[in-house]
Amino acid sequence: MRQPASEAFVAPCDPVRSRRAPGPFDPGAETAYREWRAAKLRDHPPCVSGLTVPVADPRALTPVEHAALADRCRRANMAVYVSPIVAAEKAIPPALARQFGLTRLDGNWLADDDGISSVTVTGKGGRADYIPYTNRPIRWHTDGYYNPPARRIWAFVLHCVSSAAAGGENALLDHEIAYLLMRDADPRLVDALMQPDAMTIPARTDDDGTARPAETGPVFFVHPVTGALHMRYTARTRSIEWKDDPPVRAAVSFLERLLASPSPYIHRLTLQPGMGLLCNNVLHNRAGFPDDPARPRLLYRARYYDRIGRGGA
Ligand SMILES: [Fe+2]
Repeated sequence: MRQPASEAFVAPCDPVRSRRAPGPFDPGAETAYREWRAAKLRDHPPCVSGLTVPVADPRALTPVEHAALADRCRRANMAVYVSPIVAAEKAIPPALARQFGLTRLDGNWLADDDGISSVTVTGKGGRADYIPYTNRPIRWHTDGYYNPPARRIWAFVLHCVSSAAAGGENALLDHEIAYLLMRDADPRLVDALMQPDAMTIPARTDDDGTARPAETGPVFFVHPVTGALHMRYTARTRSIEWKDDPPVRAAVSFLERLLASPSPYIHRLTLQPGMGLLCNNVLHNRAGFPDDPARPRLLYRARYYDRIGRGGA
């Protein structure tokens, strides 16, 4: 088994400051929250086409393409690129990511030697035991929710080489919108999910197969440098322990209802060859799909210990 990460990849400080963060995500900062909220709702793209940017070569973006992708990431924490490159080119995700300041790659043990995961239906290397490597649906989650604070996944790139004959759709929700809707409903709910012991993933239960100790932490927390909001979440119902606390239970129920309901903020798309998603680890799920062994669905996934900044780099 490969070691999960070298020291060089470890984040410089513990990002879990949760309740102490100043700014709009501080439960007491009502004015800052109102200003942030107004801007968020004004700027958020109304549909998936508003997230999408055609690019000639994601490995070498033009300044205009880069600015357009950075703009979507600033407004929605995610952007979708559409490129004409349909060859299985594994250099695309890291080359694209580098242009947005993402360099510290997470290498879970199911990733390939270069740290990029080939997400495809396979029985090789123990992957068949883990849902991403099957054709089954994947519930709502953020990537690496089972990781310790030093290995937070702040951003990832998902690049499509080949799509399934049918299905495999992703639903996407900006976690800042999830926070906003929850705080609007009842500020005590977001407060509950910022508690440092809100959610525990028991030992040895993650979707990437790495044996780990139990991991306890908040659901919502802020980046230690930028103050940006992030989220650690899984909709799994087994192998997860929520804090036995009425506000936490109410907040989890709220999230479940939100994610199960039609919403103009939930964007749905099926990645096609040459397309990809660049994001600050937004909430996402995946529909199941019939796989064609002659041309299996294949996506390259690169996860990072860096976040896409407001300027895009
Ligand atoms: Fe994921």
